[in-house]
Amino acid sequence: MCGIVGYVGPQGALDVVLEGLRRLEYRGYDSAGVALLSDGELSTAKKAGKLANLEKELAEQPLPAATIGIGHTRWATHGGPSDRNAHPHVSADGTVAVIHNGIIENFAALRAECEASGIEFSSETDTEVVAHLLAAVYEATPEGEGRLAEAMRGVCQRLEGAFTLVATHVAEPDTLVAARRSSPLVVGVGDGEYFLGSDVAAFIGHTREARELGQDQVVEIDRTRGLTVTGFDGTPAEPKAYTVDWDAAAAEKGGYDWFMLKEIAEQPQAVADTLLGRLGENGELLLDEVRLSDEELRDIDKIFVVSCGTSYHAGLIAKYAIEHWTRIPVEVEVASEFRYRDPVLDRSTLVIVISQSGETMDTLMALRHAKEQKARVLAICNANGSTIPRESDAVLYTHAGPEIAVASTKAFLSQIVACYLVGLFLAQVRGIKYEDEIAAIVDDLRRLPEAVEKVLEQMEPVRALGRSLADANTILFLGRHVGFPVALEGALKLKELAYIHAEGFAAGELKHGPIAVIDQGTPVVVIVPSPRSRNSVHGKVVSNIQEVRARGARTIVIAEEGDEDVVPYADHLIRVPRTPTLMAPVVTTVPLQVLSCEIADTRGFDVDQPRNLAKSVTVE
Ligand code: AGP
Repeated sequence: MCGIVGYVGPQGALDVVLEGLRRLEYRGYDSAGVALLSDGELSTAKKAGKLANLEKELAEQPLPAATIGIGHTRWATHGGPSDRNAHPHVSADGTVAVIHNGIIENFAALRAECEASGIEFSSETDTEVVAHLLAAVYEATPEGEGRLAEAMRGVCQRLEGAFTLVATHVAEPDTLVAARRSSPLVVGVGDGEYFLGSDVAAFIGHTREARELGQDQVVEIDRTRGLTVTGFDGTPAEPKAYTVDWDAAAAEKGGYDWFMLKEIAEQPQAVADTLLGRLGENGELLLDEVRLSDEELRDIDKIFVVSCGTSYHAGLIAKYAIEHWTRIPVEVEVASEFRYRDPVLDRSTLVIVISQSGETMDTLMALRHAKEQKARVLAICNANGSTIPRESDAVLYTHAGPEIAVASTKAFLSQIVACYLVGLFLAQVRGIKYEDEIAAIVDDLRRLPEAVEKVLEQMEPVRALGRSLADANTILFLGRHVGFPVALEGALKLKELAYIHAEGFAAGELKHGPIAVIDQGTPVVVIVPSPRSRNSVHGKVVSNIQEVRARGARTIVIAEEGDEDVVPYADHLIRVPRTPTLMAPVVTTVPLQVLSCEIADTRGFDVDQPRNLAKSVTVE
């Protein structure tokens, strides 16, 4: 979720671009850079770390004044945070500067093509390929108005993946060109000046007149000719005009009241981005980035999944899938307990550490212990270049983008999906499943973003329910099979957001004690498994709902569409799309996130920064 800013107009471009980057800092980033175009010359400055590092560099080595420029804050995906991986990237011939948000799936093949033509790369990023390609295509594009836009259209037709691109060329000193596919890009229209931004926060201080670009579109912004929008195929298009009525703070949250709500809404994209580039055309897994050899993967005879909090719940869910697909025993442990119980580890043990921040000290110490015991460590992490992946033998990044709210949502769904990718990859490498079996499961994964989107469209009743529960002093969460970790996660969300006592437990445990706490009106949330899954525990969970209801519970039932067995026993029924058993957590978790967020908001609490909590717990 990089930050993108562009400017062309009468003002000093550097000041406008830096101001825009500051307004986008909330998105989270690990490096920043600018490129200015003046007197036919490109000048750039870029630094790892925060904007202050870039501003220090600019103070020490000022760039020539310019009235056209681009700027970028990078959230690393391909290539860790560093000066050379920071954007903008400049073509080998120095004519083109490009900034990018998203993932170019086929960058490796394009990079090989460029290198074969003698181009030497200066970074590990996927973006640099675009700079070299655009310069080359520009040279091959007939001279005349709109040449850079035409070259951009040509390049975009060769790119696969999700991307927002903004480019300048020394031969067109009055022009910015941008392209958009699946990543956000908005144009600001001022008085004789134009702005580009990942979102309106980048330019809301200058203008509220915005133009939204559509999918697969290119926009040319020329100081005198204004805006020209086309499809990648050159077909003229009309951008959607609108006036921004948010204030700057709201703009950072995309119009949502809380970052958490924005991040809940980003979950379909986060799941899609985590899958992007990792599923082959024939349903095979493409996880070369994992960097554990097939031999090492075949040598594994035991797996531990070690993490904390919500990431621990992702590990609990992963256990069901990885064991089912690979037949390798999987133990899931909270990191703070793992290394103190002297676990049995050796070179044939794979320890998967899951961490959104990549800095959680408990998880880091568990990782170090595992390595001391010669186990192989694979990190599943959302923060490129953070400590945990750096100290692991291999890493599979979730591409959820920066998660600002302390309560983890989109990272959690991405962690589940990433764990599934690892499990399927293990099954594929070890030959436990046939290709067609894996391809069928891959198809199930591909359908998850749409399933999550469908859940999000039906959340109004859940928000109303949340408001009605704001005075509850305890809420219980029940689930079986993969629904049990979802119950734990639902309880954690409620505790950390609304400060209400909550407990998640296996529904089968009710009769072994917890049922004693059920009182008249006790809210009990029940996550119901699919009635269609093999060895379904569906009937048992329906019985559990009857048991708690018979004792006065107010039952809140999450069940898939078409499940009529639960209807007589549900005081509140929340429907989720039908999904295969192991995929259900990716949809059943979402109403629990929304419920807890609404309860906390109704209780007047800070949803994004709950009391006593930190986004990354860097102490033991
Ligand atoms: C999640 O909502 C919590 N904020 C917390 O439990 C978190 O999942 C835990 O601290 C682990 O953090 P990590 O994923 O960054 O390692």
